[in-house]
Amino acid sequence: MSNTRTSATQRTDFAAKLLAWYQRWARPLPWRDTNDPYAIWVSEAMLQQTRVETVIPFYHRFLNRFPTIQDLAAAPEEAVLKSWEGLGYYRRARLLQQGARDVLTRFNGKLPADPDLLKSIPGIGPYMAGALASIAFNIPIPAIDGNVIRVVTRILTWEEEARTARSLQVIHHWIMEQFPTDAAREFTQSLMELGALICLPKKPRCLHCPVQSNCQAAGNVPERYPTKKIAREIPSERRIILRIQWNEKHLLVRRPETGLLAGLWEYPNIAAKLNEDALTLGARWTHDQLGRILEFRFISTMTQVFTHRRWDLEIYAAEWKENQAPRTPPNSDWFLQTEEAALPRVAFVRRLQSETK
Ligand code: ADE
Repeated sequence: MSNTRTSATQRTDFAAKLLAWYQRWARPLPWRDTNDPYAIWVSEAMLQQTRVETVIPFYHRFLNRFPTIQDLAAAPEEAVLKSWEGLGYYRRARLLQQGARDVLTRFNGKLPADPDLLKSIPGIGPYMAGALASIAFNIPIPAIDGNVIRVVTRILTWEEEARTARSLQVIHHWIMEQFPTDAAREFTQSLMELGALICLPKKPRCLHCPVQSNCQAAGNVPERYPTKKIAREIPSERRIILRIQWNEKHLLVRRPETGLLAGLWEYPNIAAKLNEDALTLGARWTHDQLGRILEFRFISTMTQVFTHRRWDLEIYAAEWKENQAPRTPPNSDWFLQTEEAALPRVAFVRRLQSETK
């Protein structure tokens, strides 16, 4: 492998080949048409956990609704969450807005270019600081995401688990050596693009790879990299979901301001031990919260997976038929279907509503 810098524009052999490939084959993605750091920030926040094809319509809608940092900072949090509905990982939306407010107060509404200042903004970690410094400001700082880790661990046949501090340092250092002095913006994206189009997780397309001759894993079981750590089973929780109807309305509860799915709306959701009877739990809950025992019937099961846990959901339904109105528990309200659809909701509630329409 050659790391020697070969031309006046200071490109390694690797960078020259990769950039030529990128120029020819890069997908025309909307955030590649702009140099607006805010738009690039929005795109990177969305792309951190979500596929490109999914992000594109959300990206356009979000920037239409909140065209500037000022607009985002001034918006009600619920409006921001609503624009994020369907993308998941809502913490990203909340942090993006907190970041916008921070940039407004500390940096006069302009995102700084310095990676250390970028990292001092809520929601901006090492990956995002590198992505913004290089893509938005053309400064040679690596942005190391899953695609880039895969590409570099293969090039180096790096055998250690990739997400340790030491591995990330090696990857960072290698990328720094390759950075062209004149095209940081394109180089960062070309590494990501190679990971997305050629250096695929299960079936790498080495025959089409522009840097095959620089890669020690090509022809040498590249799909082995990055090496896997031993998988941990994520803990599961049994949750009983109560879909309670009163006339044409359903009861929804707003989740607390902090923690998992903070601020989103859902149907009453009770943690249950494996040996507890769901109908009894439901009856007790309605007695305590609504003032009457309701009888539930089983509807379906669902799972909802998070990064560090899984919910095994059991869905039950009941109807309030008394003449007298039910009580409305704290942080709750009764909503018509159309009203419900306008709220930022937890994924399983959206799925349930679309299935039972
Ligand atoms: N994934 C993360 N950032 C990206 C970008 N700028 N373009 C394509 N995919 C990405």
